[in-house]
Amino acid sequence: MADKNLNEEKIEQIIGEMTLEEKIEQMQQLAATATPAEILEELSHKGNIGAYLNVSDEQKAEYIEYSKNSRFKIPPVFGVDAIHGHALLKGATVFPSQLAMACSWNESLIEEVARVTAREAAADGFDWVFSPVLCLGRDLRWGRINETFGEDSLLVSRLGAAMVKGYQADGNVMACAKHYIGYGEATGGRDSYNSVITERSAREIFLKPFVAAINAGCLTVMTSYGSIDGEALTASKFWLTDILKEELGFSGFVVTDWNNVNTLVSGQAVAENIVEASALATNAGNDMCMRSYEFVAAAKEAVKNGTLPIERVNDAVRRILRAKAKIGAFDSEKNRPPRSVIGCAEHRQINERVALESVVLLKNDGILPVKNAKKIAVIGPNADDVRAQYGDWTYFTHPEPHPEAEPKNDVYTVLKGIREVYSDCDVIYAKGCSLGGAEVCEEEQIEQAVRAAKEAEVVIAAMGDTVQWNGETKDVAQPILRGRQEELLRRVYEVNKNVVLVLVNGKPLVLSGVLPYCNAVIEAFNGGDLSGLAIAKLICGQKNFSGKLPISFSSAVGAEPCYYNRYEYWHGGSYCDVSAKSPFPFGFGLSYSRFEYGNLVLSKKVAKFGDTITLFCDVRNVSDVDGFEIVQLYFKDKICKILTPVRTLLDYRKVFISAGKTVRVEFSVAVKDLGFYDMDCSYRVDLGEFLFFVSGNGVEFKEGLLVVE
Ligand code: NOJ
Repeated sequence: MADKNLNEEKIEQIIGEMTLEEKIEQMQQLAATATPAEILEELSHKGNIGAYLNVSDEQKAEYIEYSKNSRFKIPPVFGVDAIHGHALLKGATVFPSQLAMACSWNESLIEEVARVTAREAAADGFDWVFSPVLCLGRDLRWGRINETFGEDSLLVSRLGAAMVKGYQADGNVMACAKHYIGYGEATGGRDSYNSVITERSAREIFLKPFVAAINAGCLTVMTSYGSIDGEALTASKFWLTDILKEELGFSGFVVTDWNNVNTLVSGQAVAENIVEASALATNAGNDMCMRSYEFVAAAKEAVKNGTLPIERVNDAVRRILRAKAKIGAFDSEKNRPPRSVIGCAEHRQINERVALESVVLLKNDGILPVKNAKKIAVIGPNADDVRAQYGDWTYFTHPEPHPEAEPKNDVYTVLKGIREVYSDCDVIYAKGCSLGGAEVCEEEQIEQAVRAAKEAEVVIAAMGDTVQWNGETKDVAQPILRGRQEELLRRVYEVNKNVVLVLVNGKPLVLSGVLPYCNAVIEAFNGGDLSGLAIAKLICGQKNFSGKLPISFSSAVGAEPCYYNRYEYWHGGSYCDVSAKSPFPFGFGLSYSRFEYGNLVLSKKVAKFGDTITLFCDVRNVSDVDGFEIVQLYFKDKICKILTPVRTLLDYRKVFISAGKTVRVEFSVAVKDLGFYDMDCSYRVDLGEFLFFVSGNGVEFKEGLLVVE
């Protein structure tokens, strides 16, 4: 991405001439929906505000005009939560949620998703997307699990970097790696609560995705709402300046999350007033303040009272101007795509591929594919619910909830997909019950679904959750199928023993109450516009399943955490009351193909620190169906002075294997990458034995041993 029209010399010249007020205004991002109208107008009309969010088209035009009348004519940038597509705009392409997309383990596809999203956002006048989320989803109670790429640091790093590249590929839009850092690890899965992690564990687990995003050229980073070990991230010079900017060399700018500066006073109570908070946040390394409009006056005051050095302000403005130059903000005519790209047919086609790869088959006793059925009953509260299928961060939910909005896109719910794909069949629909919560479920609804099930040869039951139970501030103590959903499935199964359960939900739910009452389980998460069509094509066998879980399912409420890369030792090794074993762990996923793994072969049995070794495994498709397999390589340092997880994902490949064919899957592993962080936070590689594991499902493994000397 080339710097356009504004070189370093010019930036320095501008900074040299700007007044303190102009500089601070450049550091402010105003939220149009959360700033009193007269203040919004008063601050905006001078034309120096650095950025906005939640603005209308008219406001965008107005603010650009204001900036043209200002001394330096620095255009504001407009940010938007384009989290899975530019989905806050009705009519734009709605992709599967980040968690759903992660099931594809497909970096190039996810890069393409981001490119499409940036194109649609740029066509709609935006310059900045607040994505990707690089938090790890390691506690299923947390409300924002749906926004993550799952539980594994390597997978999140790769998919996150791909997304950054995609967003920034056309040079129109800035990506934003968020929420820095450790946000998803808050105790109890409580959104924005304190995370009890150490620098050592942060480096080992939570920092890596941000390193990958920075290496991919990410122009902005968003500070988490939360705190680590009692230190508010907004006020953390250690994490924002020492680590992010100095150690990792991040040269873009840091934006706070929504109202973080005020929260230092009113929520976290680490600053007495907004002046102190503004100095604290800026000195820590935040360059732009989101939403807290009081910052403009307060930061000025902090410079005047000597608590905020002007050099820090200059550095922040320099970073902001550089990033703006990189996306062509200063070009007289920014080269935005035409509005016609929004929701266009080409983007829809890409979305169908993504929807197909975002689905995971968890169980199949042979009922799938469903062929030759004459009568199918589609039941369940999420069989025909666009809102549940879209999940969070669409025009239904943001910037303000519009639960009554009607979609403009031709959205395929499960029901619509089944009706289209099984056009020769009699498809009967009965919702059966609600998702729990405020909506009451009448006995009559259940009976109607049971009657439909009795009549049909096969039942497709779409269940799950909805945005009521997912998103910011929507943590749940019990990630379960709510309301009478379990009862509905049991009663349907009593009358029909051919039941396919399709899960349309934000996050993994405890399934112990339904697994005995269905023949197949398909996890679709929030699959976007075309999920229903993809699911129908997969159910009928027109397409093959290829997704693998990026996150583990919990065996029971309370059996948290259940991520795969736990430590070995647990006195007792289990709970007394329930199994702690994940029924569907990270890496799991079935397909219509069956793959057999040969032995794992290492090019060397003994290696030295500087060596790179090759490992390979022959994977054979022993079925008569072509398919993709995601071959996963894990490792474990057998004896290490610091506890190491039972296994850690080291690499993976998604390979196509024709029916009856064998593919040799090769990995190249540098011994220097087999290290750990010591108690002093230095990175080291142990001498001794290392185990490698190759797997296609996170359950069965072929092992190999390497000695490092
Ligand atoms: C708060 C959320 O935490 C963040 O993810 C989002 O980008 C901002 N609000 C802006 O809406």
